[in-house]
Amino acid sequence: MKTNERILAIETSCDETAVAIIENGRNLLANVVASQIESHKRFGGVVPEIASRHHIEQITITIEEALEQASMTIDDIDAIAVTEGPGLVGALLVGVNAAKSLAFAKQKPLVGVHHIAGHIYANRLEKEFEFPLLSLVVSGGHTELILMKEHGSFEVIGETRDDAAGEAYDKVARTLKLPYPGGPEIDKLAQEGEVTIDFPRAWLEDGSYDFSFSGLKSAVINKLHNARQKNEHLKPEDVAASFQESVVDVLSTKTFQAAQEHQVKQVIVAGGVAANKGLRKALEEKFTGGEIDLLIPPLSLCTDNAAMIAAAGTVAYQQGHRAGWDLNANPSLNLEHYAARSKS
Ligand code: KG4
Ligand code: ZN
Repeated sequence: MKTNERILAIETSCDETAVAIIENGRNLLANVVASQIESHKRFGGVVPEIASRHHIEQITITIEEALEQASMTIDDIDAIAVTEGPGLVGALLVGVNAAKSLAFAKQKPLVGVHHIAGHIYANRLEKEFEFPLLSLVVSGGHTELILMKEHGSFEVIGETRDDAAGEAYDKVARTLKLPYPGGPEIDKLAQEGEVTIDFPRAWLEDGSYDFSFSGLKSAVINKLHNARQKNEHLKPEDVAASFQESVVDVLSTKTFQAAQEHQVKQVIVAGGVAANKGLRKALEEKFTGGEIDLLIPPLSLCTDNAAMIAAAGTVAYQQGHRAGWDLNANPSLNLEHYAARSKS
């Protein structure tokens, strides 16, 4: 099989229109991200209809810009990869239809990619994977511990039973009247505060690698409401620092325990919340000096981008996975089902 495949990837699952071109699965030739955050800020969150409209406006320009960045034409590309799910259905459809049109017009193979597989594979742009590896995926929609024994295989060994970590960050931020997206705002504030409040940590049953953040989110919201009613002043930076400490403690402790139990060679962190300074520091403290290699992608590869879809798409392509012209957006695509399908 040819080894220097050039994959053009499209990602439109949420509020970033992104296109990237990659060679050999790891060599990034173009990485363009058109963010819509400014348009959603005044609504305090992503408005699906607005997201779809922006994607439609941006998609062609973004594809052209990526080709220009790589000094290529579409004829130099071997296959088109696209995020097929999970995500917002209207947003995903724009990317899927753009990818299908391009692949059909130029008779290129088409590869569907799971968004979370993409977040995990963002790390491979920095360092080659060594199996078995454990990935902590923490984003706006996901909090999962995923065990990988080989390329393209994903076993979910723990997941959130309610809110995702990023979702808890965004909701707490809204209560603190911070702008959207709230995660980076709380992270910044937490650096200036002190841990003065002992918020709960949901460890769940012994040995479980599942997570739960809704109790913590409610505890923070109640604390703020009670303080307001009693005219008591709580320093927002201390609330942020205490909330962050609680999230980070559970995430880093469970990741460390799972990594040891499964005797993994690498631990990789993925998703928007991987940008969190507190989480990065706690994980570095736990893993430094040990036998397990900790990989955390640079900030630009933590949040949504298409380089990660190209990296995961290359593996799916090399494993022979091809999507048909009936490829559809799947807002609740399951990672383990996707992995099983990729291998068949
Ligand atoms: O992976 P991502 O870009 O989109 C999804 O697939 O969800 O993640 C976005 C999430 C948002 O909830 C955002 O608040 C959170 O990642 N986030 C952070 C930080 N940067 C982004 N959360 C905590 N600390 C950060 N520094
Ligand atoms: Zn994401």
